[in-house]
Amino acid sequence: MSSFKVSTASLMINVPVWFLLCSGPLKAQQGTTPNIKHIVVGRCFNYITLVNSSLRIDCEEIWRQFEEAVVHQSSCNVTVDDYNHMFYAMPQTWPCDRFLFWSKTRTLMHSYAAVVPNYWTLEDTLVGYMFNDLIWCGQEEDLGFDFSSCPEWTACRNHPVYSLWRQASQNFAEMACGNITVLLNGSIVNAFSGKSMFGSVELDSLNACRVNYVNIKVVTNLDGPFIESCTKGSIVELIQILQARGFRWTCTDNEETLMILQCILNPKQASCQTCANSLSHIKSLT
Ligand SMILES: *[C@@H]1O[C@H](CO)[C@@H](O)[C@H](O)[C@H]1NC(C)=O
Ligand SMILES: *[C@@H]1O[C@H](CO)[C@@H](O)[C@H](O)[C@H]1NC(C)=O
Ligand SMILES: *[C@@H]1O[C@H](CO)[C@@H](O)[C@H](O)[C@H]1NC(C)=O
Ligand SMILES: *[C@@H]1O[C@H](CO)[C@@H](O)[C@H](O)[C@H]1NC(C)=O
Repeated sequence: MSSFKVSTASLMINVPVWFLLCSGPLKAQQGTTPNIKHIVVGRCFNYITLVNSSLRIDCEEIWRQFEEAVVHQSSCNVTVDDYNHMFYAMPQTWPCDRFLFWSKTRTLMHSYAAVVPNYWTLEDTLVGYMFNDLIWCGQEEDLGFDFSSCPEWTACRNHPVYSLWRQASQNFAEMACGNITVLLNGSIVNAFSGKSMFGSVELDSLNACRVNYVNIKVVTNLDGPFIESCTKGSIVELIQILQARGFRWTCTDNEETLMILQCILNPKQASCQTCANSLSHIKSLT
């Protein structure tokens, strides 16, 4: 998500995308990613060949629909609806109990999804996989993509990148079923934010009849700050919203796996020393 990342699964808006948009104004001023067609079509073939060979979709057709949506509009005027044909060309169903949503926990989310089997994030869907980290916009007069500069999202009502991620996030949340997991950052104020992609799009798209449990996991940085938790701050609001909408839920603070993962990423941290010491003890025995 170095630039526009999906995160999907949440604007600083919970979507990682939004986060990037907000946090990366310099990146946002870059033009369309060079070689975007080759990247997008290549990722698509990679996905349907190596990731899920049972998908029957036409990668060239998806590209045509994408291009149609973007290049016939001015760079700030691509709505969610403009992508309808593209999304229609890429149907995908998902197994239940694997949906992972997240907000402002991108780095950790990646490690988590990598070690805990069966978690699926927006970036694992075909659309997330194809467009992750890319930037694009058209230009006036139907001249194709603008490779020299794209507007910042704040300059636009309908930013082409944001609109795609918004629709992708909505589709992802609408498909969610069984137990779903939401990974939130307890080291910031408003871990749950109504402006995030999770709070503004995904939460409203979850269907209480399809979702069995919403399992919230709050994780802080190892060295804090410890600002929000299951019983403190905006997460309490999230729980109230879920309850009012008839969702069952659980909430866990600083699950062990999440803390150990952070220690792996940063073993010198003081709170990781106990673990490190017992591991070196084992090492000395062997
Ligand atoms: C934006 O798109 C709408 C519908 O496609 C069109 O009617 C309108 O003229 C466009 N506005 C600009 C500034 O291009
Ligand atoms: C592959 O795609 C098919 C059709 O959408 C779906 O039923 C299946 O669960 C997917 N398998 C994996 C491993 O993603
Ligand atoms: C929480 O958010 C802060 C600020 O964006 C970030 O530096 C930190 O890595 C995040 N913590 C976790 C556990 O994701
Ligand atoms: C769903 O979550 C609930 C509450 O955490 C748990 O009791 C149940 O075993 C979970 N079911 C599955 C299929 O993971």
